[in-house]
Amino acid sequence: MKRLGILLSGRGSNFAAIARNIREGALAAEISIVLSNRAAAPGLELARSLGLPARAIPPQNLDREAYDSLLIEALMEAEVDLVCLAGYMRLLSARFVRAFENRILNIHPSLLPAFTGLDAQHQALTYGVKVTGCTVHLVDEYLDAGPILMQAAVPVLDTDTVETLSARILEQEHRIFPLAIAKVLAGSIRMEGRRVISL
Ligand code: GRF
Repeated sequence: MKRLGILLSGRGSNFAAIARNIREGALAAEISIVLSNRAAAPGLELARSLGLPARAIPPQNLDREAYDSLLIEALMEAEVDLVCLAGYMRLLSARFVRAFENRILNIHPSLLPAFTGLDAQHQALTYGVKVTGCTVHLVDEYLDAGPILMQAAVPVLDTDTVETLSARILEQEHRIFPLAIAKVLAGSIRMEGRRVISL
């Protein structure tokens, strides 16, 4: 069985969606570790309630490389095949990206390359786009920048607030993140430059 490592910083609803897909047999994988930079992340509590190994690794005063070395060590120890960033709010160092080359996925709540960084739903709403969505992509050391694996479009309604729009995007996040993970674990993709082609 392929082994997943989850990194999260907050509520962990994407992590919960991955765990649910595994439980329901829609995703052939196991979660071998859940790590967070924030000890108070609700996602960590959720992981423990599901009986999964979960650990906070606080950044303290470590620089990015030193901190990421701790993460790498924990993920290696858990023998993970794929790292899933599920609301992980820190940039990864080049060292981390090299350690898991092409084996790190992120979910972002916009149609990349639009609206990178924080508050992507707010950015989309204030810019005035009529369609936004979410993106699962491979992670490199730049922010929300790696090759795109899967996207889902979500219409922006005139009546939308950040909350209503975020909720509809989140439904799509929960749907496509497990699908993209399954695809990568099955090895049914190949790269053509930045393009991820399905086999
Ligand atoms: C999601 O919107 C995800 O796209 C972004 O951070 C949020 C995490 O939500 N990267 P959750 O912790 O998975 O509920």
